[in-house]
Amino acid sequence: MNILILGSGGREHAIAWAVMQNPKCDRLIVAPGNAGIAMIADCAALDILDGAAVVQFAEENAVDFVIIGPEAPLAAGVADDLRSAGILVFGPGKAAAMLEASKRFTKEICDAAGAPTAAWARFDSAEPARDYIRQKGAPIVVKADGLAAGKGVIVAMEMSEALAAIDDMFSGEFGAAGAEVVIEEFMQGEEASFFVLCDGETVLPIGTAQDHKRVGAGDTGPNTGGMGAYSPAPVMTDAVTEATLARIVRPTMAEMARRGTPFTGVLFVGLMIENGQPRLVEYNVRFGDPECQCLMMRLGAQALDLLLACAEGRLSEARVNWAEDHAMCVVIAAEGYPGTYAKGEVIGGLEGFEADSFTMMFHAGTALRNGKVVSAGGRVLGATARGSDLRAARDRAYALADRVEWPGGFCRRDIGWRALD
Ligand code: AMP
Ligand code: GLY
Repeated sequence: MNILILGSGGREHAIAWAVMQNPKCDRLIVAPGNAGIAMIADCAALDILDGAAVVQFAEENAVDFVIIGPEAPLAAGVADDLRSAGILVFGPGKAAAMLEASKRFTKEICDAAGAPTAAWARFDSAEPARDYIRQKGAPIVVKADGLAAGKGVIVAMEMSEALAAIDDMFSGEFGAAGAEVVIEEFMQGEEASFFVLCDGETVLPIGTAQDHKRVGAGDTGPNTGGMGAYSPAPVMTDAVTEATLARIVRPTMAEMARRGTPFTGVLFVGLMIENGQPRLVEYNVRFGDPECQCLMMRLGAQALDLLLACAEGRLSEARVNWAEDHAMCVVIAAEGYPGTYAKGEVIGGLEGFEADSFTMMFHAGTALRNGKVVSAGGRVLGATARGSDLRAARDRAYALADRVEWPGGFCRRDIGWRALD
């Protein structure tokens, strides 16, 4: 079959890499793609937020199946446009993508479903929000309601920080995303990510992971999109997994179906776990980046069969073949990220990698210029490896990262420290 993947990050490179290993895939196109993706698939320039353009492209190229990587096209309703045109698609429609696109929507769904999450309140003006913060005290969490590219969450340890966040949000720092604000109870515990496929009815777990959001060693410094990840997450024991499915995931999926907007696609369940009790931090309606790189490394070619079963509503027949393995992704970012950084720097040492089923250098923000790979974003590469235990996966991932010749790049040296300690 002919397959189109929308997106250009490490997540999409990882999905493309897994899909390419499956004999069902005859032709793979990724739009817009990056320099690494261009080595294994055709790349196409396409405005992936323009549903009509995506449908037209898919029809012209006889695409049988579209996999949507990032949240923006999902929130824009691109999956709905494809479905209306009779094209098979992996990813939720606009109504179900609200689980990521609006924090308030998710909180209301949790309340309706009885799913445990932080206590919350919503505000559309600053003064009542400030009063609420003064009444509750710190620590407290302030969130812009809408999509803010991972930047709309302020975990305030001091009340002054929370009040300043309110000022920023209502003065338009986060654009339309900050016109409404959700204020939440601060939750303690250990975070983990849980990934399930859902076809509107059946829920199929496909893996757990933990990522490192802070830029600096020991999980310090500013937040990023994620500096590394590993899978599985040791904190996701069988008991925690069962509790998450029973109390959070299945009730949420049932509530979405009851409202006439069933969720189909991958649900990224962000959890806070304290004393073995999971509570929901947030949902995302797509794979995490770089968590996806670890999941694809572990799933391999069967990933395509699972995504197809999900899109075709056949998840009740699908099975995941688990290997007792571990994977790690170490992100190599441009010096200065998540602040300002240079682009267009030549990256060497990328040739001659043994791209096998144990190690893979996934590209994120890269481009080709005069036949050379250059940096083109903040998070640039994801050195990813698999092993029989996390230590083996880590050693391989860092050995791969250390072969990159790029003075303007850096990576954290302690990915996985919590699990390895
Ligand atoms: P989100 O974008 O909602 O995942 O939030 C980003 C990060 O903020 C999460 O990964 C958590 O580390 C933290 N966070 C969000 N909400 C809470 C909360 N209610 N309590 C504690 N930490 C939180
Ligand atoms: N790594 C977190 C995310 O993809 O949102």
